[in-house]
Amino acid sequence: MTENNFIFDDEFVISSEGRVGWKAPSNIALVKYWGKKPNQIPANPSISFTLDACATTTTVTYKKLDKISSDFSFDLFFEGKENQDFKPKIQTFFERIDKYVPFLKSCHLKIETSNSFPHSSGIASSASGMGALALCVMSIEKQLNPEITQSYFNRKASFLARLGSGSACRSIEGPFIQWGKYGGIKESSNLFGVSYPFKVHSNFMNYHDTILLVHKGQKTVSSTVGHELMHNHPFANQRFEQAHNNLDKLEQVFEKGDLNEFIKIVESEALTLHAMMMTSLPYFILMKPNTLEIINKIWSFREATNTPICFTLDAGANVHVLYPEMVKEKAIQFIQDELVVYCENGHYICDRIGQGATKIA
Ligand code: PMV
Repeated sequence: MTENNFIFDDEFVISSEGRVGWKAPSNIALVKYWGKKPNQIPANPSISFTLDACATTTTVTYKKLDKISSDFSFDLFFEGKENQDFKPKIQTFFERIDKYVPFLKSCHLKIETSNSFPHSSGIASSASGMGALALCVMSIEKQLNPEITQSYFNRKASFLARLGSGSACRSIEGPFIQWGKYGGIKESSNLFGVSYPFKVHSNFMNYHDTILLVHKGQKTVSSTVGHELMHNHPFANQRFEQAHNNLDKLEQVFEKGDLNEFIKIVESEALTLHAMMMTSLPYFILMKPNTLEIINKIWSFREATNTPICFTLDAGANVHVLYPEMVKEKAIQFIQDELVVYCENGHYICDRIGQGATKIA
């Protein structure tokens, strides 16, 4: 599929008004996307677990305008209150997707959105937020053209979400989503995420992700800047190649349920992501001292008890603690006894693998 497959057939026009709504989850990458080409094309393929509890709920009420506007007309309400701060991000998103969903300019939109996790928890809401909004836009498209298939709907929702925030394209479906052209998966694409097509062992069903909120403040360096710094990065090519190799290795790991190999790949990916930040120019560090305390505690506990528990990181200081269902009690006890002390105000979120977005209106 190419970009042209997603251009809207403008024989369909908005005739009245309506309301659509979606709840879209966040996701956590196992093989990380870090570095991009123009138009939100990833420099390397990635794969993620779709989450369940961390989600954004968005409804869009649309009403046909009397005459087509040259700009987008929308109001934004975040957690019940009109919000101006997020409007520029949504304006930029709409400009990027205009070509594919031109009907948006023919209506006024009232966007109401809220997150299941606390604002400024240090958890990025861009993946779930852009995922939910892209799905709402697709529900409007579906009302105009009911003929589109479920597969086209999901692919285009992922395609649009990607234009808002790269990793958001992995927040439409679940439980494992691969994004970025990769030789091992023939339907893989740089344009949208696809469901992981191969066998996954029961060890990976119901995997848990307990998110330890180490630092709730604003990040010092945004992902946008971080991706940018992969241009001319001294280790960029080796890193991109490593992502392909790790995806190759994961195929066997998922099939066999090999938790030890899974841990090696996932932790190495997390540390490589941060190593890229530390070796770019300018260099920067997003981990905090408590991030390292937690990592060391996880390593000691794993060695002492042989429990298959590991960590991953996104572009921030928070730690995602990953463990299978079979060690749930032991892992939660360990987290409460030894890790929560490193969280800001003792805050953490218990999440797990999810099945993807749900329609709410
Ligand atoms: O979607 P962005 O542009 O915020 O990039 C996110 C990149 C990481 O979260 C660090 C890795 C990933 O693959 O999600």
